[in-house]
Amino acid sequence: MVEVRFLGHAATWIVGGPTKIVIDPFLNGNPLAALGPGEIEADLIVLTHAHGDHWGDTLEIARRTGAKVVSTFEIASYASAKGADAWPMNIGGSYAFEGGWLKFFPAWHSSSFPDGTYGGMPMGVVIETGGKRIYHAGDTALFSDMRLVGEVGLDLALLPIGDTFTMGPDDALRALELLRPKAVVPIHYNTFPPIEQDGEAFVARAEALGFEGRALKPGEAILLE
Ligand code: NI
Ligand code: MN
Repeated sequence: MVEVRFLGHAATWIVGGPTKIVIDPFLNGNPLAALGPGEIEADLIVLTHAHGDHWGDTLEIARRTGAKVVSTFEIASYASAKGADAWPMNIGGSYAFEGGWLKFFPAWHSSSFPDGTYGGMPMGVVIETGGKRIYHAGDTALFSDMRLVGEVGLDLALLPIGDTFTMGPDDALRALELLRPKAVVPIHYNTFPPIEQDGEAFVARAEALGFEGRALKPGEAILLE
């Protein structure tokens, strides 16, 4: 059984396999954060891009836990220079870890650190762990190559619905048709006023299209079994 815990905004914690993974751990300064960075245990920190609402508490978690930062060449280099263990990659690359693997896919967005340093291309990621395949889309617009992502066979898709900086609900529903996951969890909404959306309404629309969905409150988890 794999537990996918939504920590607020895009932060996601995947536990249950032998490797604990946290994605985009923006917790300090996140008004919806369910946990503080001191409560996260992780072996891998996967970053979709460098924006502050994703990079977040990466360094603090990496230094305390020894977790490896896995992301673009630019983000890994930045993390390494600040003392973290890191593994540089780029779109299209895959990485094997104990109990699974991950692979990076494109995302249509931008990527710079809060200090202005270029973060490389933004990405989405498919993670297989505990025999389950999970897609975290990162921050992205709708794009037709999501069909290729869906071809891997997804148990769960975490999709931004906030609009303004990413897809809104209408485009996220079109993304679902391309991705065809068994279940969907909306992310990247309600954290700040420009991205206010109704997660329950999105899930109801997804269910009307035949997809399972859960609008997780920060701190809640979906169990894949
Ligand atoms: Ni972003
Ligand atoms: Mn973002």
